[in-house]
Amino acid sequence: MRILITAGPTREPLDPVRFISNRSTGKMGFALAQAAQARGHEVTLIAGPVTLPTPDGVTRVDIETALQMLDAVECHLPAHEVYISCAAVADWRPAVYSPTKLKKAGMDGTIQLVRNPDILKTVRPLKDNKLFVGFAAETGVPDAEATRKLNEKGLDFIVANDVTAPGAGFATDTNRVTLLYPNGTREDLPLASKLEIATAIISRIEQLRSVTDC
Ligand code: CTP
Repeated sequence: MRILITAGPTREPLDPVRFISNRSTGKMGFALAQAAQARGHEVTLIAGPVTLPTPDGVTRVDIETALQMLDAVECHLPAHEVYISCAAVADWRPAVYSPTKLKKAGMDGTIQLVRNPDILKTVRPLKDNKLFVGFAAETGVPDAEATRKLNEKGLDFIVANDVTAPGAGFATDTNRVTLLYPNGTREDLPLASKLEIATAIISRIEQLRSVTDC
């Protein structure tokens, strides 16, 4: 299969020296790319600003902002059968970018923000019979919020986790996730390395794909 994966944070610049972003390191998305490639799939990885090496055999596209990530997804999605949206996309960006450094004397303590597009929702019309998988990183029990996102974004399944749980979340090498499906099925995966979790996610995608292909 041809699998498109987004990973890492996006970075929303305010001026040449400052930006708004989040704690994502890209580890889960890069582990997915590595696991998918190891299973013989063709992988395109759209990566926000992270410091990770590209897994062998994976085609990487680097972007910085949410708008650039949306452009890259719209460009590459048609050539893929699966889209895994693992990126922690910044929901807001500064309304105005200053090409010169902002000076504190000229600021009043507020930054005007505008909403970024929801990438999954924006490319939903391109879904056809492609498989879409999302992530929901929450603080606390993620089930209710993850189920809302699963339904609102029209996903085939969502990978939910509590980023405050021991061994889970950003920058760790392990994760503990729950897979939630539209028919209400849930599957709790035990605490494991991000690569093991990624391999399990890829195998669920392969199973779903072989069912829909029949
Ligand atoms: N996502 C996206 N575009 C955005 C924000 C999120 O495509 N602008 C995707 C993420 O890659 C993830 C899923 O949507 O697969 C859920 O992201 P998350 O940040 O958990 O939720 P939000 O949709 O931003 O909702 P909220 O702010 O209410 O948590």
